Amino acid sequence: MWRLIRNALAALVLLVVIGAIAFAVIAWRPEIAAIAAPPQRAAFDRKDIEQGAALAAIGNCDVCHTAAGGAFYAGGRSIPTPFGTIYATNITPDPETGIGEWSETAFRRALRQGVARDGHHLYPVFPYDHFIDVTDVDAHALYAFLMTRAPVTAPPVPNDLPFPFSWRPALALWKVLYLRPARFKHEPAQSQAWNRGGYLVEGLAHCGACHTPRNAEGAEQRDQKFAGGSSEGWYAPALNAASPAPVPWTADQLYAYLRRGDDPQHGAPAGPMAPVVHNLARVSDADVRAIATYLASTIAAAPGAAPKPPSVALLAATPGKDAAEVFAGACASCHSGAPGAVAIDLAHSTAVNAPDPRNAIRVVLAGIMPSPGEPGAMMPAFAGALTDQQIADLMSYVRGRFGHEPQWGDLVDKVRAIRTGQEKS
Ligand code: HEC
Ligand code: HEC
Ligand code: HEC
Repeated sequence: MWRLIRNALAALVLLVVIGAIAFAVIAWRPEIAAIAAPPQRAAFDRKDIEQGAALAAIGNCDVCHTAAGGAFYAGGRSIPTPFGTIYATNITPDPETGIGEWSETAFRRALRQGVARDGHHLYPVFPYDHFIDVTDVDAHALYAFLMTRAPVTAPPVPNDLPFPFSWRPALALWKVLYLRPARFKHEPAQSQAWNRGGYLVEGLAHCGACHTPRNAEGAEQRDQKFAGGSSEGWYAPALNAASPAPVPWTADQLYAYLRRGDDPQHGAPAGPMAPVVHNLARVSDADVRAIATYLASTIAAAPGAAPKPPSVALLAATPGKDAAEVFAGACASCHSGAPGAVAIDLAHSTAVNAPDPRNAIRVVLAGIMPSPGEPGAMMPAFAGALTDQQIADLMSYVRGRFGHEPQWGDLVDKVRAIRTGQEKS
């Protein structure tokens, strides 16, 4: 009897020891030797430092690593998470309190693997699950940029995390489960801009860190990419088929929003998106275009992406709205005819000036959808939002205001025939 118990205990101890050793093997990371002094400015190419500045802006390094009113990159900013508050660290080249003793190898490992120079695991609020895809060349430029900032003495602020979240070795398991390289794969069939945009959006720019929902362990749900997430108590809207934008985003509008923060159809960023847009002002035009190009395809290409009519559902439900009001609310935003408007000035439209109204009615009923994966002209479908009579009235209004030909006849009948599928040939 006693022998049995003794053997069982021995087996248990053995299991625990083996488990502990296995865990230590998974969790342990070596220290990378300190460098004697931070590299001097002369050690870097000026072009690399400049490129590093633009890349740091795309990666929003300053947003997290700068406390309100504090020195740039000196850390101390609190970042609220569902697990507790984490403080960003000092990434100026101060040897004692910053990363002045970090070699480029140590920096690269932190950026892509979330491991500090001394070997401790870093929390994934630092979006290394995206930075893992940053190339060596770009990591070098970032290192050159950071190592040539003014060193600031600013000791790290301790995190406010309860146990077990405060126990860093557990992060090794999180990484086994969730840290995966190559979110983005180069697609030769796509344009150069699309591929550049994909590399930036999925990697350094970590757009999904806010715009993708997270699971209970704080990891992004990859099967829900861009389905809408949250950041600091704000809703970060879906950037896929579920986009709630009343006017579907086009690449040009995304560009205007990201470049200037003032796309007329979608308003301006106000919450955590504001510093992102602010930083993009320091990024080359080509890169912002590339980001918009790629994003336009994630918004449009997802299965079931259907452009949604601008609040016309409301308009349509309100009796007494006449055609001029419907046009102002539902069409004018795109068809204003003003310079830079996203859609054609209807005064120039063949459909509006054609001898019969079929083409114009069809466009309004069904909208215009680019083929999946292709950025292109997009117009929402109004079939669900407007009655036959409203569409007929709208057609006469459009013809009267923008056409150069006499009015069409029998409009309600024609709309009904097209809608019910009688009008086929
Ligand atoms: C969303 C916020 C956020 C962004 C954006 C961010 N970081 Fe961080 N970073 C953090 C936090 C928080 C930590 C500390 C994590 C910890 O203590 O485990 C950190 C840690 C680091 C570290 C390790 C420093 C140390 O002393 O251990 C480096 C290096 C670093 N970040 C560099 C960067 C660079 C370069 C960028 C931009 C490309 C960047 N970070 C963008 C939040 C961020
Ligand atoms: C720190 C979190 C965060 C990051 C990182 C972030 N966003 Fe946002 N984004 C938001 C939030 C929150 C909003 C809601 C509006 C606001 O903040 O004013 C938003 C709004 C937007 C909108 C407007 C959506 C709409 O339909 O109105 C677009 C487009 C957008 N972000 C694109 C991007 C792109 C592209 C990136 C990467 C380059 C990015 N975001 C990175 C948080 C973020
Ligand atoms: C989200 C923007 C958007 C909205 C809103 C919109 N359209 Fe369009 N519309 C377009 C685009 C894009 C095209 C394709 C032509 C182009 O590239 O300008 C188009 C094409 C058309 C055409 C065909 C023009 C031609 O000859 O090729 C008509 C007619 C038209 N729209 C009428 C309307 C009416 C009426 C409304 C309101 C009920 C409306 N549109 C709302 C974007 C929009």
